Amino acid sequence: MEYRKLGRTGLNVSEVGHGLWGMSDWSGADDKESLTTLQKSLDSGCNFFDSAWAYGSGHSDLLLGQLIKNNPGRTIIATSKIPPKNLKWPASSEYLFDEVFPRQHVFDYTQRILDGIGKDSIDLLQFHVWDDSWANEDEWKETISDLKSKKLIRHFGISLNRWEEWNGLKAIQTGYVDTVQVVYNIFDQAPEDELFPLCQKMNVGVIARVPLDEGGLTGKLTVDTQFPEKDFRTRYFGSGNLQATVKRADELKKLLPEGMLLPEMALRFILSSPAVSTTIVGMRNLGHLQANLKASDGRGLPEELLLKLRLHRWVRGTRSNK
Ligand SMILES: NC(=O)c1ccc[n+]([C@@H]2O[C@H](COP(=O)([O-])OP(=O)(O)OC[C@H]3O[C@@H](n4cnc5c(N)ncnc54)[C@H](OP(=O)(O)O)[C@@H]3O)[C@@H](O)[C@H]2O)c1
Repeated sequence: MEYRKLGRTGLNVSEVGHGLWGMSDWSGADDKESLTTLQKSLDSGCNFFDSAWAYGSGHSDLLLGQLIKNNPGRTIIATSKIPPKNLKWPASSEYLFDEVFPRQHVFDYTQRILDGIGKDSIDLLQFHVWDDSWANEDEWKETISDLKSKKLIRHFGISLNRWEEWNGLKAIQTGYVDTVQVVYNIFDQAPEDELFPLCQKMNVGVIARVPLDEGGLTGKLTVDTQFPEKDFRTRYFGSGNLQATVKRADELKKLLPEGMLLPEMALRFILSSPAVSTTIVGMRNLGHLQANLKASDGRGLPEELLLKLRLHRWVRGTRSNK
C-alpha cells in the first residue's frame, strides 16, 4: 500500500481507502463479514475509513467504532459525515443554510458520531451535502472553528453533489475546507477541469468517491441485473442507465492490459491523478478487498492507456439522490 498526504491536514492516508456505505444501507450487507473485511483492510495497510451518520442511521459509525475498539493504539483515520437537517439529498440552492446545517444540529450530530465511533475527537468531519450558495454564510465557518477549538474534530471537509463537482469551488476558496469528497472515476472525469487544480492550489485533500461507479465499473453488471426495490442501485441504474453503463463497461474491457480486471484498471486510473489523496472503495468482502488493494503499488497505468481512457469520459445530465 502506498500513502499520500491528505492536503493541508498533513495526514498520511492510504491511496485506497475503505467506504462503509454498502455495509449499512445496501442489500447483502452482513455485519460479521463487514467487520472481518474492515480488519483485513487495516491489516493490509488501509488506514482511511469513510463513514456517515446517514449510513444506517449511525450503524456505519458503530462498525467503524468496533474496528477502532478492536485495534487499540493503531492508526485508523476515522471520517464521518453530518446529515443535512432537512434530510434532502442532493443539496440545492433552494434550501436555506439554516434548514440544512444549523449550529445546534451540527453539534448534536457530531456528538452522535463521536459516541458511535467511541472517541472524543474525529480526524475528519464532513458535511454530507453542500451547495455553494451557502459559501458566504458566517455560521458554518464559526461552527467549524468552534468544533476545532473544542477539539471535537481535527479537520473539516465537504462532500459534493454527484456530477456537480463545480458546486464547492466557492467554499474551498474561503479557506475553511480541508478536504473535498467528489465522484471521480473513468466515467466521471470532470473534477479534473476546475476542482482538482483549485484543490492543488489551496492544498485541499481530495477524496475520490464512487470509484467503481456503484458497480458500473466492476464489469460484473449485465443488462439483466436487478437489485431489491429499496436498494439505492435500483434508482441509480434505472431509466436506461444500466444498459448505457454495461455498453460502456464492455468497451472498456477491450482496453484491459493482460491479467488485469476492470476494477483494478478503474482504481489505477484514479490513482494516476496526483490531485487525488485517496480513493474510497465500497468493499464488503475479502475477495474484493484483495483485488482492490493491488491497485496501490505506485505503478499506475501506462500513459498510452491513460490517454485512451480519457476518451471514455461520460458527461451525464441528471442527478441522482446521493
Ligand atoms: N454523498 C456521499 O458523500 C457519498 C455518496 C456515495 C458514496 N460515498 C462513499 O464512497 C464509498 C464508495 O462508493 P460506493 O460504495 O457507493 O461505490 P463504489 O465503490 O463505486 O462501488 C461499490 C460496488 O463495487 C463492487 N465491488 C467493489 N470491489 C469490487 C471488485 N474488486 N470486483 C467486483 N466488484 C467490486 C461492490 O460489490 P458488492 O455489492 O458485492 O459489495 C459494490 O457493488 C462509499 O462506501 C461511501 O463511503 C459517499
